[in-house]
Amino acid sequence: MSDQQVDQAKRTWLIASGCAGAVGGLATAVPFVSTFTPSERAKAAGASVEVDISALKPGEKLTVEWRGKPVWVVRRTPEQLEALKALSAEMADPDSVRTAYPTPEYARNTPRSIKPEYLVVIGICTHLGCSPSDKFQAGPQPSLPDDWKGGFLCPCHGSTFDLAGRVFKNKPAPDNLEVPPHMYLSDTSILIGEDKKA
Ligand code: FES
Repeated sequence: MSDQQVDQAKRTWLIASGCAGAVGGLATAVPFVSTFTPSERAKAAGASVEVDISALKPGEKLTVEWRGKPVWVVRRTPEQLEALKALSAEMADPDSVRTAYPTPEYARNTPRSIKPEYLVVIGICTHLGCSPSDKFQAGPQPSLPDDWKGGFLCPCHGSTFDLAGRVFKNKPAPDNLEVPPHMYLSDTSILIGEDKKA
């Protein structure tokens, strides 16, 4: 078993054991899966998921499930986007060049996204698989620096991420939050799981 396989197994185990608690309460995109035949279930498990973002307001996040993982879509405000630029110097990998969880080329930019306004990331910490908490409110608060600009805090071992899912320097998480393959079907619809037109 390679290191990567071990790491993947560990993440899967932690999610299954409830550390993440990430999948609870999701609006599943694959309803009534239990009525599927095994081959239909396998297809649904790997299928792409279409997300309607028309109701998402600036500063809000929605979660969908893709391949058993929570995928977050965050609509960032102009202020939040502006803050990302100033934060780059505090990031472990500001340009997303690390390869533990490779960032698609179209998201290798400061906001880590196709359209700056919308962040699409997998909501699982790259350290040991916990689910980071939303800490969108800027300013001093417990477990965060006084100059906090908004982002995510992993409660397990204290990794912090900005609102582009970039991990801060000197934290246990080895990489930024993973950006899944995705593409826009329209201004209000994102397809998670595919990034090329068939
Ligand atoms: S699992 Fe997130 S910091 Fe350890």
